[in-house]
Amino acid sequence: MLKGIVYAMIAMGAMIMVTNIWRYDFLVRRSEDVLSSENPRGRFWVNLAFLLLIFFLIGYLGIAVFGKPDLLVGGVLFGGSVFVAIIITLIVHLMDTVKARSIDIVETLIDVIEARDPNLNGHSRYVQNLTVCFFKHIPSEMKEEISPVSMEYAALLHDVGKLGIPESILNKPGKLDKEEWEVMKEHPRKGVRILMKLKSFAHVLPWIEYHHERMDGKGYYGIPGGQIPFSSRVIAVADTYAAITMVRSYKPARSHEDAIRILQDVAGTQLDRDLVDIFCRIPKEELQGCVPENVDVESIF
Ligand SMILES: [Fe+2]
Repeated sequence: MLKGIVYAMIAMGAMIMVTNIWRYDFLVRRSEDVLSSENPRGRFWVNLAFLLLIFFLIGYLGIAVFGKPDLLVGGVLFGGSVFVAIIITLIVHLMDTVKARSIDIVETLIDVIEARDPNLNGHSRYVQNLTVCFFKHIPSEMKEEISPVSMEYAALLHDVGKLGIPESILNKPGKLDKEEWEVMKEHPRKGVRILMKLKSFAHVLPWIEYHHERMDGKGYYGIPGGQIPFSSRVIAVADTYAAITMVRSYKPARSHEDAIRILQDVAGTQLDRDLVDIFCRIPKEELQGCVPENVDVESIF
């Protein structure tokens, strides 16, 4: 009778452990995106869950190979499986909370920049949508294991540094003079300074800093093409297409066909040629689906 109870506890515990392993794998994949990867508390709990998982797995294997299980061993293994399941559930909850807070911060920042600059109205979300769509079309061997979530939020936040640019420059109806242009060129680095405190975004800061660099090295900070992060080059293509096809206070919207022609003209000098080739092959309807509701693209599609 007692033996039956012990074996039942071990069997149930083993089933819970199998579920734990599956949920841990899900947890690790979930922790790799921009919103949770650098969270130190989250990382501590993920590591703790891993150690517990290994500890109890060894226990189960030990019993399977050498075991003469008694009530104490059965209880420890069953209780351990339940404990690991609880820890994993708590970590998932913690990550969801961190993620929800980060999304709130990002949404607020975007609303503030777009409210200050009518030229940016919907631009950040348009670049975000275009980048998500574009990223799906890039072959996996080119993506350097970049998380699509990191890519998406870097694109959404690429112009966050415009918060540090005076409104007189942001809202100037005509072209900027040399001095104003020098101030405007600081926005990628100002973006990095704004986001620096958010640990979750640490690894996307260089992508944001270099989104105006050019392949010929004549970008804002003169970084040579080979040193521009891949993700910055992806954002640069989406950003350029969005800027061409949107209405701005100093220019009308251009058509999809015009935008594709311009992208091809600047491929290799301003933008990454391979990425432009991929972007230009995306069906027009898919790009059309990236336009947020409040963006004025008028007759472009
Ligand atoms: Fe920018």
